[in-house]
This record gives sequence, C-alpha cells and structure tokens, in this order.
Amino acid sequence: MGDWQRSCRCGEPRESGVGEELILMGWTQSLRDHGGLLFIDLRDRTGVVQVVVNPEVTPEAHEKAKRVRSEDVLAVRGSLVGRSEETVNPNLATGAVELMAQELRVLNPSRVPPFPVDDDVEPTETSRFRYRYLDLRRPRSLRPLEIRHRMLTAIRNHLNDLSFMEVETPILTKSTPEGARDYLVPSRIHAGKFYALPQSPQLFKQILMVGGVDRYFQVVRCFRDEDLRMDRQPEFTQLDIEMSFVRPEDIFAMVEGMMARVFREVRGIELETPFRRMSWEEAMSRYGTDKPDLRFGLELVELSDTFRDSGVAIFKRALAAGGIVKGLRVPGAADLSRKELDDLTELVGRYGAKGLAWIKVLDGEWQSPLTKFLSDAEKDELGTLTGARPGDVIFMLADTPGIVNDGLANLRLEMGDRLGLVEQGVQAFTWVVDFPLMEWKQTEGRYTAVHHPFTAPREEDLPLLTDDPGRAKSRAYDLVLNGMELGGGSIRIHSPALQRQVLSLLDVDPETVEEQFGFLLEALELGAPPHGGIAFGVDRLAMLLSDSPAIRDTIAFPKSQRAVCMLTEAPTAVDGRQLSELQIKTLAGD
Ligand code: AMO
Repeated sequence: MGDWQRSCRCGEPRESGVGEELILMGWTQSLRDHGGLLFIDLRDRTGVVQVVVNPEVTPEAHEKAKRVRSEDVLAVRGSLVGRSEETVNPNLATGAVELMAQELRVLNPSRVPPFPVDDDVEPTETSRFRYRYLDLRRPRSLRPLEIRHRMLTAIRNHLNDLSFMEVETPILTKSTPEGARDYLVPSRIHAGKFYALPQSPQLFKQILMVGGVDRYFQVVRCFRDEDLRMDRQPEFTQLDIEMSFVRPEDIFAMVEGMMARVFREVRGIELETPFRRMSWEEAMSRYGTDKPDLRFGLELVELSDTFRDSGVAIFKRALAAGGIVKGLRVPGAADLSRKELDDLTELVGRYGAKGLAWIKVLDGEWQSPLTKFLSDAEKDELGTLTGARPGDVIFMLADTPGIVNDGLANLRLEMGDRLGLVEQGVQAFTWVVDFPLMEWKQTEGRYTAVHHPFTAPREEDLPLLTDDPGRAKSRAYDLVLNGMELGGGSIRIHSPALQRQVLSLLDVDPETVEEQFGFLLEALELGAPPHGGIAFGVDRLAMLLSDSPAIRDTIAFPKSQRAVCMLTEAPTAVDGRQLSELQIKTLAGD
C-alpha cells in the first residue's frame, strides 16, 4: 500500500463528494474495455464503485489496469466525478459517481478463482464452504452474518438494559446430560481422563444463581455429537439465560420483550405480544408435534373412539395394542394420483408407519380401499369429526401414539407446503408449556427426562412422583416459531432433596449422583434461590431472521453433514507423538 491511506469504503462515495480526491481499495469485480477507456468495478463489503482509467490521461495506470484480473486486490487514487445523466446506474448506491483514476496499484494479484464471485452465479455447496472467503465476498452470503451480528447486538443491548450480566463458563468441563453424545478432550496431565465439551452451560448457570448473580446471560458455543440436519450443527451457539426468583410468566415476558426488540431493530417487524401459549398435550393432539407450525390450519383429529369396534382390522388391532387412530383432512386434495398417494405413504413410512389409510370424499361416494369395511355410523362420525366435504381427502394412521403423531405431523407439513397453505411473512410464535417431566424409554427400561434432569415438576404434580411419575408434568417450556424450536427452558429444582428424588427416578444410582452431580447438590444445600431460565439457538434464530434455508448459512465456518470443517478438513489424524503424550492409542485407521 506504500503510504496510501484508504479515504472511504467502496460503497460510500456519493454525489456530494464530487471533486474530492479519494484513495479507494478493494477487489476487482469486473473489468470492461470500452474503446480504450477501461472500467473497473471495485468491490468491498459496503458495495461497488466504478473506476475509470483513461489511457490519454494516465497511460501508466492504463497499462497496469489492462493486466488486472477478477479478484485482484487494488488500490486506486483518483478524483470523484459525477456521471452524465445517461450513464447514471440507479441499481448502485454509488451509481451517480465514478472515480477517475490517476494512479493504480495492484496490492495482491489473485489466481483465477474457482467460481465467479457473483450473486447471480450460485457455486456448489462444497465449493462455497471450501472457499468460504470467496463466498463471503458475495453480498448474498455475507448478509446472514450481518443479520446475526445485528441480532446479537440488539440482544446484548436489551439484556444489558435489564441488568443482566454476561458471564463466561468453562469449555473444558464435565459432561452435562442434555441427551446427545459428548465431544471428549483427553487430558495430558491426567492421563486416561477426559474433559467433555459442554452440551450447554446448564449446571454452571444454575450455580451462578446460587452465587447471587441474579440475572445471567451468555452467548456461548455448545457441542453435541448428534446426527446433523438442516437446523442442527455439532457446534452451535446458544443464547443462554438464567434468572433468580422467577416464575415462568416472568421469563415469558422478558423473552417476548427481547424478541420484539430484535425483530423491530433487525427487520423492522412489529411482533404481537404476548405470544400464544399452548399446552404440550394440545400441541400433540392438534398438530402431532411439540413444535407446531401455526402459519396454517390442517389440524389432526382424534379418531380412536370412532373405531374402537371397527371392522377395519388394522384400526382394531392398533387400538387393542394400546395405540391410537388419528386423521387429517386435506381440503381439495381428492385429485391426488395413485403415485402421489404412494409417495405420501412412503413419507409416513419414514416415521415408522406401516401404511397410510386414505379416503377420497367425492360427490355422493367415498373412494377408498377401506370403504367396504366402514359402517355407516363410522362414516357419519368421520364426516362430522373431520368436517369433510366433497373434493377432500381424509388420511388416517393407526399405530403407537409416537408413530401416528410423527407420521401425521410430517404429512401435515408436506400437504401444507404442497397446497401453498403456509402464510408467508407471518411470525407464528407460540410457547409450548406443561411438558411431561419424564417419559418411559422401552429400549432402556427406565424413565428419561423430557427436558433435562434439573427441571422442576409442577407443584401440584409432586405427589405423582411417588405414585405415577410418567404422568407428572414439568415446569418446562419451549418457544416455537413457524414450526421450529427456537429455545427451551424450565424452572429448576432448587431443593436438594427433590433433585435427589428426581435423579433416583431417572435410575441414576446414588454413587453416580454423587460423582456426577455432587457439586450441584452441595450448591443446592448452601442457599440456592428458586431460579429458572431458557436457552435459544442463536444460529436458528439468525436463520429465520435472514430467511436462510439452512443453519450453516448463518455460521462463518460451518461443518458439513458429516461434521467436517469444510475449510480446514478437521477432524484430521494427529501426530503419533501427540497421542503418546496423551497416552492414547487408537483402534481406527491402523
Ligand atoms: P436445549 O437442549 O433445548 O436446552 O437447547 C436449547 C436450544 O439450542 C438450540 N440447539 C441447537 N441448535 C443448533 N444445532 C444443534 N445441534 C442444537 N441443539 C440445540 C435449539 C434449542 O432450542 N440447557 C438447556 C436450556 C435450559 O434449560 O435453559 C438446553 O440446552 O434452538
């Protein structure tokens, strides 16, 4: 750069600056030769400005400019001139001016890039993240990161205004059960022992409440070794929050205020508060999921009672085995082809359903492989309960509650999407409350915590802990937006006795309790205030705010579906010396 100092950024020059001498620096977006005059579009994060190099005025700069290639890093000194009316470019913020070059320096030439840096040319996913630095030069790819930054700024300002304190908690720590596998880090000093990377700072934030911090938050990286999806990464960021002396309503009100501010400041959207609240039972019954997309109707209908003594064998069998029957009426879908019905059967099959019953409601007749087994009374009741009208299809599943709800919930999403029922531009927030405290895991032969083991049961359900723990509801809540779980939290157990009781119901033996959670129980015995909190998926929120199709778009350097860092190719093998220092021998790859 020599002694040159950049005057401003490429997207900033305006007509008011005409006549000024400027030094601009940036990347070569494009170079055009118009009969001797060379035009360079110079780009940086703020935008593009046109540079003109005239061979008659600056032959030396022109010689250099002729050899400039896309993505070369340039510095140009020149004077800002106004463009003539016919050459003004209304699509560019700088479109009324251009820089008449006097001197040009190539600060760093670029190899031919593997793909054009151009918003209109979409590289493959693999190229985008392998060359993320080129990808980020495209406004379309940088935008989600800018939105994320503005979102976090609004959140930090809001929480600061409410006297929250940001406190950092350890990354090298001990496993906290959030339900996924841990990433482990071997200790060199304590050979054979491992740190776990945090799945969340759950226990630390609770202990900060015992420490009187009162209102804590942290924007914190969490690590979970689980199967990846469009809305999941192995390392992701939480906005983690904890408050003392609160009830769920206090947390709801605080979060609603924060979300309203974020949506207003980042997107100019006014949210309606308070958000809707729905019990877990209602969500499961009407939508088959604890994260319902409320931007459209299409509700599930309970049909178990209708088919209790049915002639339809699959229904009867499922009900006799303790299962349920539920239906979904899809308006105007009677023209689905056989192939489309087969595809939908395959879709519910992915969730364990062994088949999908359907009835096409036509004028005067019902078309279905089931018609001959349905009694008139059943048809009448089915018609009334689903509200079916000619032109509709009624889908039905009979199986365990899990399979029926999963299958129909996903069928509902698919049909909502196909029929264009999802109302765009709507922010359908809902709190889902009153989750069960624990659920029986057949495969493990024990109860597992639905949220996590530190979640408090509802006070009125405390007696159920001894009588029928599976029926106890918890003081946990999730915040759902447009069918995506944005965050979840709970009021915590602050009584050491209750915490011991819950851990023992979850079949954690007393020795493990002391070893794993002894420090927590001790803290609860030393003046723990009633407390509760919540954690949000920062990447997910940024994805929704930036209308990105996948969570990886909101992360600077995301992992692939196979949990590989696409830039550095981590994880990689390590030096044998490093392993022997750690006293580790691997079984893989020898
Ligand atoms: P939970 O496990 O529900 O709660 O996580 C909170 C939120 O974190 C986000 N999230 C993820 N985002 C991206 N990739 C992942 N793999 C991933 N896993 C979770 C989700 C989720 O709602 N300690 C409790 C919170 C509490 O009780 O306060 C916890 O971690 O948006």
